Amino acid sequence: MDRLEAYGRIEELKAVLKENSRRYYVENAPTMSDYDFDMKMKELEELEAEWPEFATADSPTRKVGSDLSSSDARKGFLQYSHRYPMLSLGNTYSLGEVEEFAARAEKSLEGKNFTYCCELKFDGTSISLNYVHGHLFRALTRGDGTVGDDVTENVRMIGNVPETLKGEGWPDDFEIRGEILMPFEAFDRLNAEREASEEAPFANPRNAASGSLKLQDSSEVAHRGLWCTLYHIPSRSVSFATHDDALKAAQGWGLPVSDKRKLCRNIAEIEEYVNYWDTARKALPYATDGIVIKINELEYQTALGYTAKSPRWAVAYKFQAERALTPVLSIDYQVGRTGAVTPVANLEPVFISGTMVKRATLNNADQMELIDIRIGDSVYVEKGGEIIPKITGVELSLRPGDSVKPEFPRVCPDCGALLVREEEEARWFCPDTYGCPMQIKGRILHFLSRKAMDIEAGEATVAQLFNAGLVRTPADLYDLTPEQLISLDGWQKKAAENFLSSLAASKEVPFERVLFALGIRHIGETKAKSLARHFGNIDAIAMATEEEMASVPDIGQVIAHSTALYFEDARHAIEIHRLREHGIKFSIEEGDSTESDILKGQIIVISGNFSISRDEMKSLIERHGGKNSSSVSGKTSFLLAGSKPGPEKIRKCNQLGIRIVDEASFLAMLSGKDVVKDTLF
Ligand code: IVH
Repeated sequence: MDRLEAYGRIEELKAVLKENSRRYYVENAPTMSDYDFDMKMKELEELEAEWPEFATADSPTRKVGSDLSSSDARKGFLQYSHRYPMLSLGNTYSLGEVEEFAARAEKSLEGKNFTYCCELKFDGTSISLNYVHGHLFRALTRGDGTVGDDVTENVRMIGNVPETLKGEGWPDDFEIRGEILMPFEAFDRLNAEREASEEAPFANPRNAASGSLKLQDSSEVAHRGLWCTLYHIPSRSVSFATHDDALKAAQGWGLPVSDKRKLCRNIAEIEEYVNYWDTARKALPYATDGIVIKINELEYQTALGYTAKSPRWAVAYKFQAERALTPVLSIDYQVGRTGAVTPVANLEPVFISGTMVKRATLNNADQMELIDIRIGDSVYVEKGGEIIPKITGVELSLRPGDSVKPEFPRVCPDCGALLVREEEEARWFCPDTYGCPMQIKGRILHFLSRKAMDIEAGEATVAQLFNAGLVRTPADLYDLTPEQLISLDGWQKKAAENFLSSLAASKEVPFERVLFALGIRHIGETKAKSLARHFGNIDAIAMATEEEMASVPDIGQVIAHSTALYFEDARHAIEIHRLREHGIKFSIEEGDSTESDILKGQIIVISGNFSISRDEMKSLIERHGGKNSSSVSGKTSFLLAGSKPGPEKIRKCNQLGIRIVDEASFLAMLSGKDVVKDTLF
């Protein structure tokens, strides 16, 4: 490579890496796989070493990726400087390079007796916690490494982050760093909810964790099921001999520290740890993407020091994400019930992490443009966060000469209406909400679905009813007669009877599910429950102002706005009126959705944070026949205490001799078993 070529390639790599870094850290929607990113970074490092005159101070090789929200974003978090810079880790995919790291350390620390501390590399978003006088004072994201976003109020909502330290010996003012994660279970639940309300799902738990940490509405954060694990106390902040001692002490103060770390004496032990976790990590309830190997003695860490970007006393060995290379056969453009048009690639079927992948989402037009996908291309498919297959890149060397650049449609593939795209929306929408067959059918299918009205009918039935001109809105379903059904192709008397009795049964569906079934934008199952529980009936919701709605826990401005818009539309008022005439439930009734009467007659006070939102906890109590009360009194049966329960309530319980039950025991009580729920860390 000559000088000019090197310059060109360096500039190109810098631009690509910076853009993807922004997408990764700011938008939480990376378009390149971690592996490709790391390989490009490595190439840039090598080129800059060879051509130092082109290595500028702003190169991504010298700066950590920044998660700071851009100043024009409406997400205003206060920003504060980190007391000590928050750095990144040098990483490698090769055990050979881990050996080189160990060899370098042994050479620098020649004759010294030292150990390595091996830990899991948690795949979340980094956080720095500052405890002052034993209380959580401030939580900052990594930001650009120097300045971070203040997300303290959101971090206070995370169940396993203590507000107050226990034990003794903690310094009056110290920092501890770690990762905020979204366990797979919470991630699946969140994505299912987002899909139900046709919001773009998160690509993986990491993106979901960092997106959740940057939410404006702290009560929404509480509902996201985030977890924290801590793994680093900047050594100037405390005085311990080793990193392991520091973590042990932190654990004693009640801080969440993983117990999966291990002290190793040599490279053989390190490799044993790496090999063990490469398999064992698949059974963990949260995502990990590698192993971090740290020199354990703080004195030697200080001696080895730092580069501009990372410590010389640690290295990350990253596991390869499971991915496959397969050709794109065609691209479909799917219109959902909200009119959003999603490109979906049909792939030559391929096995990844034990499942056959045939289709993968391309998210939106920008994403297609960015990876420059063509029909006929061989693409890399990854199971990011092991859940939704995604296309992370194109193998250009395999591009056939006759590959065709797909064109994102300008008109709705279903009804032909000119597509529109609103400001700040990555997706194109079909604007013909009430005329587009796909949207009409999509809304009916949603209404029928299991978690909504649970009526036995699928896509084919809905299409048939629509094509016959019998059904345009859910209310039309209840006007259907046996004669009309029998006149349809392939319908026998029995099938018609079954369908009609399933419709009749849906009149017993509780209001909260009816509300979800209406398909109001952004109202998934949980939000519908919150609104239904809070307002009690549809008229109260229809009359509520946006402010009143937004004051309900779990309901933010966006949701309040889309709900208000829904009720402003006269078509919806007519639809609700018709459904009501048919006997569909539009208010909460005594005994709705009771699952058991285990808690019958019990009056329960809840306090603190749980693995589910407080509202969900209240609903759980009600569904099992219990009653919630907000204050402790002589009538209270027991106090259900999560993490950080109110000290006043605890004191009162102790005074009155009222039992205090933790979440695990409570859940065990509900399941009627004597089990204690596993804790994550
Ligand atoms: S130590 C000075 N330990 O990986 C660096 N980092 O790629 C201190 N990470 O920014 C970091 N698990 O967000 C450390 N056990 C672990 C980790 C870990 C995950 C993250 C961390 C860091 C990134 C670097």
